[in-house]
Amino acid sequence: MPDRLAGKVAVVTGAASGIGRGCAELFAAEGATVIGIDRAECDLLDEVAVNALFAAIGAKYGHIDVLVNAAAFAVFDWIEDLSYADWKATLAGELDIVFLAARAAWPLLRASAGASVINFASANAAHALEGSPALAHCAGKGGVLAMTRQLAMEGASHGVRANNISPGFIRTAATAQHLAADPSFEHRVLAKNMLKILGEPQDIAWCAVWLASDEARYVTGANIAVDAGATAW
Ligand SMILES: NC(=O)c1ccc[n+]([C@@H]2O[C@H](COP(=O)([O-])OP(=O)(O)OC[C@H]3O[C@@H](n4cnc5c(N)ncnc54)[C@H](O)[C@@H]3O)[C@@H](O)[C@H]2O)c1
Repeated sequence: MPDRLAGKVAVVTGAASGIGRGCAELFAAEGATVIGIDRAECDLLDEVAVNALFAAIGAKYGHIDVLVNAAAFAVFDWIEDLSYADWKATLAGELDIVFLAARAAWPLLRASAGASVINFASANAAHALEGSPALAHCAGKGGVLAMTRQLAMEGASHGVRANNISPGFIRTAATAQHLAADPSFEHRVLAKNMLKILGEPQDIAWCAVWLASDEARYVTGANIAVDAGATAW
């Protein structure tokens, strides 16, 4: 019986799709009580709604052991085509969405006997992929990386660990558009990968299970690349 997360209350944002869904499914399979959040439950960029959502979770469960911030939104465009509105929407969809959930969850994470926040930066925070118009996305992910390190410092004295996973290319709804728009995109991704395969949401979810579990009690402020070696050379 898999039970690496037995007894833990886990909130997973972005749970309707891709990596968030993969984490929600694997966390449940590992024994966690999973509260999956997506647009149908809450607009995670609406401060009032986010605060109300976590207040309701607090009223029901009293604490949160794991917060997985997988919800995100980004516009991909080359600098000369990227509107200021899309730039700002992307930074909100990458950064504000993590900040608002983490801040609202913070008292509930502190109420846990040992809590874990898992954020997602990207290989794009470490390298530029030729042919990928990811300017705003890269800026946002660099911010997630730095924010997670700071969260780890602020959480340490309260028993709250905070870590970052930096996925390489993972097949999800968000990345299907890139594969469809450009037939050479997959080739360029594989050229960067040491392992000549594309990732699936479960490849990320296994790492998240470990970070959320007591097996990772000595791990905070870390950034784990799960990217087939793309950023290792
Ligand atoms: N897929 C990849 O290749 C890849 C690579 C590196 C990093 N990442 C990061 O991993 C995380 C998950 O990516 P994914 O590919 O699974 O994305 P996805 O687009 O498949 O899923 C994101 C989910 O977030 C939800 N969401 C977005 N804005 C929301 C809002 N305002 N309120 C509520 N829900 C909202 C969407 O509805 C969607 O279900 C993101 O932070 C992404 O940037 C993904």
